[in-house]
Amino acid sequence: MKSKVVVISGGTSGIGKRLVSMFLNAGDKVVTFSRKKSNINLLKNELSEYKDSLICYQGDVSSIKDINLISKEISKKFKKVDFLINNSGTNVLSPIKKIKIKDWQRIIDVNLTGVFYLTQTMLPLLRNKSVILNMGSLASRNGFPNWGAYCASKFGLKGFTEALREEVRPKGIRVVHAEIGATDTSIWDNLDGKWDRSGMMQDTEVANILFNSITEARSVNVDEIFLMPPNGVL
Ligand SMILES: NC(=O)c1ccc[n+]([C@@H]2O[C@H](COP(=O)([O-])OP(=O)(O)OC[C@H]3O[C@@H](n4cnc5c(N)ncnc54)[C@H](OP(=O)(O)O)[C@@H]3O)[C@@H](O)[C@H]2O)c1
Repeated sequence: MKSKVVVISGGTSGIGKRLVSMFLNAGDKVVTFSRKKSNINLLKNELSEYKDSLICYQGDVSSIKDINLISKEISKKFKKVDFLINNSGTNVLSPIKKIKIKDWQRIIDVNLTGVFYLTQTMLPLLRNKSVILNMGSLASRNGFPNWGAYCASKFGLKGFTEALREEVRPKGIRVVHAEIGATDTSIWDNLDGKWDRSGMMQDTEVANILFNSITEARSVNVDEIFLMPPNGVL
């Protein structure tokens, strides 16, 4: 089977990193980017056996300049992209009366505006039968105290995703929204509070379900995926 081209933001850690491995293992070409050189180098080292199929850039999804540069590079290398996975995400917890404007802005810029930038610049390369996967959360459907900025970004992303799905449907592009509950990744490392990480889902298991949902069954679109730990909300 012909190898596919996959673009994934934030593929250097957690769920994104697992998806990068799965696509490479399936024989596909993967382009990913994130901000930290250390994360990129680690990914390249860990996946050195795929060095001919993995392309990494350093870039911030919330910077239109970075996204324009990365998109230009992608369009020089590939005529078509088969999968766009908007995965980069960030969070800071704070009660609404105390949240710093810079934290609010950053969360909205990365989790929502960054998805818009990358999607807009990739759309010319996304054609019939391609798939866009947007990474939402339990916080795309439920509100939680101290999660105001994150919930606003992820509820916003859900609205964007639903509008996008209808806009690109006539072009044969499938749009999938994943609402994911607590998964044990580095996103929790700096979040205030005590979190029972042993009760969280494993990133490999989450990525495996996402991978299968978007790569199988062409006559079916899995519009929404909702994944939760067996014990429910933490
Ligand atoms: N883990 C969970 O419980 C959970 C639940 C629901 C939804 N999600 C969502 O799932 C997605 C993946 O999260 P994860 O849990 O796998 O987190 P993670 O392990 O922290 O990975 C996040 C990835 O995004 C990159 N990133 C962060 N800010 C970025 C920016 N401004 N520009 C480009 N890349 C950036 C990070 O790399 P750099 O730091 O190098 O930039 C990293 O590669 C996120 O959208 C998150 O909101 C996670």
